Amino acid sequence: MKIIKYYTCKTCGRKEPKWLGRCPDCGSWNSFAETESDKLKSIERKDMIPIPISAIELKDSYRYDSGIEELNRVLGGGIMKGSTVLVGGEPGIGKSTLMLQLAGNINLKGRILYISGEESAGQLKMRAERLEIEQLNIEIFCETELSAILKVLDNVKPVLIIVDSVQTIYKDELKAIPGSPTQVKMCTFELNEYSKQRSASLFLIGHVTKEGLIAGPKVVEHIVDSVLYFDQSDSDIRILRSTKNRFGPTHEIGLFTMSEKGLIQIKDPASRFLEHRNETPPPGVAVVPVYEGTRVLLVEIQSLVIPAKGNIPRVFSDKIDSRRISRIAAVLEKHLKISFTDLDIYVNVAGGLKITEVGIDLPLCLSLYSAKTDLPLPERTAVMGEVSLAGQIRSISYTKMRINAAFDMGFNFLVGPHVKEEKEKINECYTAVSTVQEAVRAVFVNEKNFKKLKS
Ligand code: TYD
Ligand code: MG
Repeated sequence: MKIIKYYTCKTCGRKEPKWLGRCPDCGSWNSFAETESDKLKSIERKDMIPIPISAIELKDSYRYDSGIEELNRVLGGGIMKGSTVLVGGEPGIGKSTLMLQLAGNINLKGRILYISGEESAGQLKMRAERLEIEQLNIEIFCETELSAILKVLDNVKPVLIIVDSVQTIYKDELKAIPGSPTQVKMCTFELNEYSKQRSASLFLIGHVTKEGLIAGPKVVEHIVDSVLYFDQSDSDIRILRSTKNRFGPTHEIGLFTMSEKGLIQIKDPASRFLEHRNETPPPGVAVVPVYEGTRVLLVEIQSLVIPAKGNIPRVFSDKIDSRRISRIAAVLEKHLKISFTDLDIYVNVAGGLKITEVGIDLPLCLSLYSAKTDLPLPERTAVMGEVSLAGQIRSISYTKMRINAAFDMGFNFLVGPHVKEEKEKINECYTAVSTVQEAVRAVFVNEKNFKKLKS
């Protein structure tokens, strides 16, 4: 067995072979101390024989219903047995509430253990009462020291473990403060190992923190199976999205609102992001059916153009990539002779949804055109399509589904790319266009705008 010596930073846990005056990670002075020699574990594992993939048997019920549909959706159809899920988000967004609601709604045989390092048992009880949770198999353990937690886990053998939050848990042997990257990584690693061995499902709450000594959930994303982030749009809608999922897709979103009695699922979100429904929208507004996960949401893109405030005109947008906006503005300039020279462009998405999909190119284009010319899009119009630099409208995925969803929401003038399907199978309110010129003609050449132009 080999003995090794090293130095550990007392503040953040960084290990160095030599003593250093200042820690390169956290910047603390005189924080390195010699660490007691550590014995490397000799490798003596029995299960060191690989198994042929054909010999692996898959048991049924590897996935179970969380009792919360929106959470199932984001996890790819339910909770995987033995999986570790990280739930990140800013303080106050509703992570603890969501986890307690999960514990309260799930239909599981076996014990559920909620490990709280932040709130007292009394506070949790009060929240459970507010949420009207009556499950008898939820147990609370208020503790932050890892070995105590692992001992209790061994006694209780829960099937569902919730740790609130991973930044409060610490391992005594590590000479680093709770919440430091070393502690957060090590505790996550050990809890993950435990849940894998016991096929228990583990949910770890991680606060998104501003820069500082406390590590954010990012530092453990590589250890866990799935990563969910909970955040709030400009409206009261809270969006749960997965950024990593070993057991399913990552494009799904779950939508909630916070109420007196906890989080409420938004089951029919199609029109929740619209501001102007059955009226002519103001100039600069275009509605697009976006495809998020497995459902269509109708959202409004709003543009405003004004004389530039500085010497260099700018694009202001935090919901749509500003490079995309500049590109679409360039297409308008080239192919429709609409100039944005010396103008600042502001673009927003009503409801605050961030959109990255290509289907918003054409609505963005028409929204900019509308903002610049002051001509509104007709009422109940929805637009979709990708725009090439040559000004052509390219097809996008799920066009038919988008058309139907918009039509169901009362939109009766739908414009987008040509679709392969036979004409009679496409909704009669749909107008297919090939170029941005055609799209502008189809949308803006109407009686109302004509009158407006004359006056
Ligand atoms: P919380 O789950 O504690 O957030 P996090 O764990 O992410 O920090 O709850 C966030 C906010 O939600 C808190 O300010 C109180 C509010 N809230 C409600 O409005 N209704 C409720 O039923 C509950 C439990 C909380
Ligand atoms: Mg909390």
